[in-house]
Formats: sequence, C-alpha cells, structure tokens
Amino acid sequence: MCGIIGYIGKENATPILIDGLKRLEYRGYDSAGIALLHGGELAVKRSVGKLINLEQLVEREHLDGSLGIGHTRWATHGKPSEQNAHPHRSGNLVLVHNGIIENFLSLKHRLETEGYRFSSETDTEVIAHLLESYMKKGLSLREALRAADSDLRGSYAVAAICVSEPDVIVTTRSGCPLVIGKNGKGSFLASDVTPLLAHTRNVVFLEDGDIGILTSSDISVIGSDAQIVNRASVTIDWDADAAEKGGYPDFMLKEIHEQPQVIMDTLRGRFNYETGEADLPDLSMTAQELIEARRIWIVACGTSWHSGLVGKYLFEEMIRKPVQVDIGSEFRYREPMIQKDDLFIAISQSGETADTLAAAREAKKRGARVLSIVNVVGSTLARESDGVIYTRCGPEISVASTKAFTGQVMALYLLALHVGRVREVLSAEEGRWWLDQYTALPGRVEAVLKQEADIVRIAEQYYSKNNFLYLGRGINYPIALEGALKLKEISYIHAEGYAAGEMKHGPIALVDEDMPVVVLAPRDRLYEKTVNNLMEVRARSAPVIAFGFEGDQELSRVSEVVVPIPEVHPLLTPILFAVGLQLLAYHIAVFRGLDVDRPRNLAKSVTVE
Ligand code: M6R
Repeated sequence: MCGIIGYIGKENATPILIDGLKRLEYRGYDSAGIALLHGGELAVKRSVGKLINLEQLVEREHLDGSLGIGHTRWATHGKPSEQNAHPHRSGNLVLVHNGIIENFLSLKHRLETEGYRFSSETDTEVIAHLLESYMKKGLSLREALRAADSDLRGSYAVAAICVSEPDVIVTTRSGCPLVIGKNGKGSFLASDVTPLLAHTRNVVFLEDGDIGILTSSDISVIGSDAQIVNRASVTIDWDADAAEKGGYPDFMLKEIHEQPQVIMDTLRGRFNYETGEADLPDLSMTAQELIEARRIWIVACGTSWHSGLVGKYLFEEMIRKPVQVDIGSEFRYREPMIQKDDLFIAISQSGETADTLAAAREAKKRGARVLSIVNVVGSTLARESDGVIYTRCGPEISVASTKAFTGQVMALYLLALHVGRVREVLSAEEGRWWLDQYTALPGRVEAVLKQEADIVRIAEQYYSKNNFLYLGRGINYPIALEGALKLKEISYIHAEGYAAGEMKHGPIALVDEDMPVVVLAPRDRLYEKTVNNLMEVRARSAPVIAFGFEGDQELSRVSEVVVPIPEVHPLLTPILFAVGLQLLAYHIAVFRGLDVDRPRNLAKSVTVE
C-alpha cells in the first residue's frame, strides 16, 4: 500500500530518495514522485507507471537538494495518473501519504468552503490543504500536523516539508507503519526498514499519534501530549545485500532459492537436542500457561492464512490440540467465541496487515494471549503481541510471498514441538526424532529446487492454458490453495485450489482437456484416495501434473508428468510441495512475459481494509 521515504542531511537527497523508492516499489507501483526543497524553492516531479519513468525524468532535470520526500503509489482514491501521484502540494508545502482517509469527503467540503480548490481525485490532497490552512492560522508545520491528526479518520502515514521551515521534515502515523533513523550524515524516514538498511541499522518505529521530527543531525519523537517521548531504537540485523537481487532476474526467484537458508535460520538456536525440546524464549508464556490454554486460534490473511491452515493439521495430528483458523477480515467482524486464556496466534510476514492486526487487537480485548509469528522485526503486530516468534527470512521483496510462508510453517513446527513437549504429549525421544526431521528439511528443499529444469519444461508446456485446478488432501489441502494463489497472483491465470475429495461435489464440471490439474499425492494414508481423484480427472481428459514421492512408479503411470520430492513424514510435505508449486507458478509467469515481482493490482503489504 504505497511507500513513503524522506531524507534530510548533508548529501544530495535525489539519489537517496530514488534508491529508497526502488526498495519500496513492491508496496505500490502505479505512479511515483519526489519533492525537493532547494534554495527556498520546492521542486515536485511525478510520473505514471513504474519507477523507472520517474528516475529518467529526474535524471533529465538534474534535481538537487538536501531535503526531500518521495512516494510510490498503489491507487486507492483516483486512478493512476500524474495528477493523482504524490507528493501533493498546497501553497508552500508538500506531502506524501500512505493509507486511506475515511472522512476525506467531509474534510474536502470544509476546505472548499474555505476556498481551497482540488486538482486531484485523491484523499491525500485534503491533508495537504488541511496543513496549509492550519499554517495560515499561525501554526508551525509540526503543530499543523498535530491539529490535522485530530481531524483525520482512517489509516495513514504522512511526511511533509515546507518552504518556511527548510530545516525539518515532519511525519506522523495512525495505523500505517513508519520508521525513522539517522547516521551522522542525515536523517531518514520510510514505510519500512528496507530503504534504511543502506544507511543505518538502528531505527525507531513510530507509534500511532507520534510526530517524528527529522533534522539533518537528529531525529526526535513528540507524543500526543506534545512532550518528547523516548522510543527505543531497534537494531535490524538484516544484511543490506538481502534487499538486492544478487544475480537473480527477480526477487521472487531469489527468495524461492533462499528457502533452505530460511529454514536453517528459523531453527537456529531454538531447540535443545538432548531434551528433544524447542526453545522459544520470546514466546513469553510459561509451560503452565500453555498447558492451560483452552483453545488455539490462528488468524492471518493470504499466504499467511495458508500457513495457519497447515498449522491446524499439524497441531491436531502431531500433538492432538484443536485449532480454529480464521481469515483476519472474517474474524474481526463476526462474534468469535474467543475467551480469556485462549491462545491467539497471528501470522504475518509484514506484521502490518490491517485485518490481521485488527483481529489480534480484538482477541487481546477479549482477554486472549496474543502470540505472533512475524518476519519484520519491530513491526506493529510484533510490538503489540504478548509473545513473538520471528521467522528470520530477511526482507521479502517480491509481492508474491514464498520464503515467508516457509519461515511461518517452520515456526509452527517449532511451536508444535514446544507445546507437545510441555504438555507431555511427545516424549524426549519423539522430540529428538522430530528435530532430526526438521534439521534435514533444508537438504530436502535443495532436492526440490534441483527439479527446476523439469518444472521449467512443464511450465513451457502449459503456460498458455487459461484455467488450472490444484488438488490436495489433509495437510496438503492448504498447499493446493497456496499453489493456486501463487499462479493467480503472478500469471493472472484463473486457478482454484480444492480439497481433492471435494472435487466431485462441483468443480469436476469444469474439468476438460484444456484444464491442467495439479495433484499433490504423497504416499500417506490418503494416497489411494488421492489417486482415485486423479483418475477421475484423467477420465475427463485433463492433463495431470502430479507432485509425489521419489520413485513412485504408480503415480508416473497415471500422470502426464510427475515432479518428485524426497520422501518425508507426511506432516513435513507441505514445505516441499509449496516450493515446487512456487517454481511452477514463477516459470509459467515468466513464459507469459509478466513482471513477476510486481503483479498488477497488488501491493505487498495491505495496511488498509
Ligand atoms: O504480510 P502478511 O503476511 O500479513 O500478508 C498477508 C497477505 O497479504 C499476503 O500473504 C498476500 O496474500 C501475498 N501477496 C501472497 O503471495
């Protein structure tokens, strides 16, 4: 949902802003713009489409200035156009905004009666005019921002500069992430930490209602009571190179290939082999509290919801603990029967997804203990949770989530082991057995990645099809959903994931020779049933792309093509199948000539409802 960036310091702001926007482009890419303040003049440059258009424009015009703000947009109010692109200007001030102003119509009406004329269709322009109107009444930029903050309803992160205060950038947030930092040569702000990594590792996450003040030498935070507040700085240990493509054509392919490392990193230092236990100190829950937790809820959105569904099968089968899984946007608006002492697990790569956050707040309000599984250190969800398991995936830049999913499932494996051991459902010996399986997973994922050349051939054969069906059973039903989601997101092919046994209750009517069916068929206790479902689609002439265990001759006989994965315990198959399906979706999208990292209409982090 839009990315914002700001810099004030001793260096030329232009390359810093453009480089920062490149790292934020995954948050939105239908238009971009920057504003610089130099010699008492404001220069605003905006262009439609990918960032490269803005970059070329800025290069032609040789923009200079040591103070500036920038924006990359994912349109909510008003189509992608230069007029709707940020920054937005009112008189001598400009601002950038991420989020949605819900009461923008009433504010617009009020400002129009004050004489303001609007030149865009955005909700953002009301903030610019609102600040200007307060400054005209004698307020400073920061005071105007505070006053506007109490007028605005919705979710937003805003950064503003103005000609009359050339030594400062002011910024605030409500419901949208915002991070600030400094490095001796200047101060920075951004929607997330990735653009800051090249400049500093110590960052401050603003809280709702904070006003951040950036000067060339310092950053400070003013709380809602107008007093300076001390917000602890967080050290980010992500490698700056982690936000580069590192020789891969896209971030998505790079991130798919990083998964063996993600598994190792997520496991590192988090188990005790001797006792067969998982060691999760940030859980902030005693063994007794875990034993007493009446019910487990898992809530998430998109791919993270799919990992939550894997968690349900895992917890129920491995440690016999019932789990209820919900989609964030559903949970928050029904009357969930969550109670005090229930354990609520929120899963999110970004830690900023509005629906997941709202669901976690609702759970907390009702007295549940909130544990989050999050990738972004210091994110809002992580900060608001009672306990956290960080997934240690490094920055995930590609809009289509891959390695974050694997990190989340690994965190759930660790959590299942932990709960199983404290509740004594698993013995030390069983715990050690599971740890052997977990630590062998990176090598097994490598083996799946080695199938890439074969998967490319499959992609080449089927990329022109318009519909795909994905079938899985049990713990691989969520993987069928995830495989279909990956294909939809980046190739724009209609794809559906189904529980294999459910197919005959409707979707089989769609099946014909033009619909490839991807079947996940590990040799588990449901193998024969899955093969029967596979036969049913074959009988309707559908080409079958099967994913199964190495050496499964039977599967080869009944499928057009088989992608083998190493034989593992059935509960550990999801990651291996998911990696294969990610590669399939990726290569199909590449054959269709699409921009896999920046699929149309999507944004990486959905911070609005
Ligand atoms: O940051 P989160 O994990 O909370 O994001 C949730 C979804 O928006 C995300 O998984 C989305 O579905 C991805 N584009 C999937 O590839």
